[in-house]
Amino acid sequence: MGDNGSEGKNSLSIRDNRTGRDYEIDILEGDVIRAMDLRQIKVDNGDFGMMAYDPAYTNTASTRSTVTFIDGERGILRYRGYPIEQLAERSTHLEVSYLLLKGELPTQAQLDDFVHDVTFHTYVHENITEMLAGFRYDAHAMGMMISAVAALSTFYPEAKEIHDPEARWQQIIRLVAKMPTLAAYAYRHHRGLPYVYPENELSYTANFLNMLFRIGTRDYRPSPVLEKALDILFILHADHEQNCSTSTMRMVASSGADPYSALAGAMAALYGPLHGGANEAVLRMLNRIGSVDNIPAFLEGVKRKEERLMGFGHRVYKAYDPRASIIKRTADEVFEVTGRNPLLDIALELERIALSEEYFVERNLYPNVDFYSGIIYQAMGFPVEMFPVLFAIPRSVGWLAQWQELLEDSEQRIARPRQVYVGEEARDFIPMGDRG
Ligand code: ACO
Repeated sequence: MGDNGSEGKNSLSIRDNRTGRDYEIDILEGDVIRAMDLRQIKVDNGDFGMMAYDPAYTNTASTRSTVTFIDGERGILRYRGYPIEQLAERSTHLEVSYLLLKGELPTQAQLDDFVHDVTFHTYVHENITEMLAGFRYDAHAMGMMISAVAALSTFYPEAKEIHDPEARWQQIIRLVAKMPTLAAYAYRHHRGLPYVYPENELSYTANFLNMLFRIGTRDYRPSPVLEKALDILFILHADHEQNCSTSTMRMVASSGADPYSALAGAMAALYGPLHGGANEAVLRMLNRIGSVDNIPAFLEGVKRKEERLMGFGHRVYKAYDPRASIIKRTADEVFEVTGRNPLLDIALELERIALSEEYFVERNLYPNVDFYSGIIYQAMGFPVEMFPVLFAIPRSVGWLAQWQELLEDSEQRIARPRQVYVGEEARDFIPMGDRG
């Protein structure tokens, strides 16, 4: 590839050395070209044309988006242009949800309406409750959640009207409202405790904590510190542009599937230990390390690639994840109420050593959002199985914002990546008796 004298022009000149032909490819904003423009590069007319090979989509933009901006090198995260630090400090999760879903911060009246609508859709149909009761006592909360969200689509057949903005908004409200209820029910099922119904006078996170932890008729009021800390954690997890689960949401929805089915798919993607399951994996790792003395031996294992340092590294951030710094501050406030989680000492020392060792520094391995969130969740009384669920509740907002954007984007069609076939050439079927 070269400039070929077209200086100043917003295009890329490509010479195909196989044919000696030159091509001019338009450069869109930034350093982006349209992958389809490569298709004109052919050896002869019968050719399919040039494709980009990009396993795991590490260098492919699948959409133009206005939702979330990340600069991984500089550790910047913004929702709709607003820095995550300002939102975490000055906003609430439902206000941020409105911002993500609508594109602008709400007026007081808009926020009041939104909070009211979400609050009054928190109940789930009793048949869903009965369905949850059918799971084994030790069923993983995430498996229960994925199933329950998928099942919701059968209760709201109008959710199929994905091109009707009003019907779409109705499903968005329902999902934002019902995710905490489903999560709390999954938790109570696991504990063998009766479900606590939503209470409309409580805030989004206070209601969630109430449904989780209230026992019997005893007056339970969640600590305002924990209510606020959970709200901040929800803000931090609300969106993160085109990651594995969000891309899954878009991929499933691109076929026209209803949002409940698409969101169940996104949750399944989030469940994996390399994504939303990472904070669960961090806790298991810290428990396995057991004490500060064992850290050096553990890190040697990581360098030999026998272990992975969970909660470290990120596909996009090659600096300190900005969410991790905010979480670290939140942790201090939570521990003042709950008492210090003994795993924190191991985590802090692990971070200190890892950040000073060449192996981690040269690979830009910094703590990500999941490194400290699990320690906070555990101190708040959540079992590890709930960790990915606690991620899925706020991220459902981001998934839905991205879903809306997809449906309103005239450039989007059903998603369909290509492949480079490297298998056998055509061959004839061999009868069973003739096979080696
Ligand atoms: N521990 C040890 N080494 C690591 C880690 C880690 N956590 N992450 C990356 N590396 C190493 C790789 O082995 C590789 O080394 P090499 O160059 O010697 O082969 C190098 O760093 C580059 O790593 P990649 O695999 O190219 O990084 P990638 O962008 O593919 O992976 C990922 C990102 C999956 C997040 C990875 O860092 C990881 O597995 N982290 C642990 C799991 C985790 O915390 N996930 C949560 C991510 S945040 C979220 O989903 C909300």
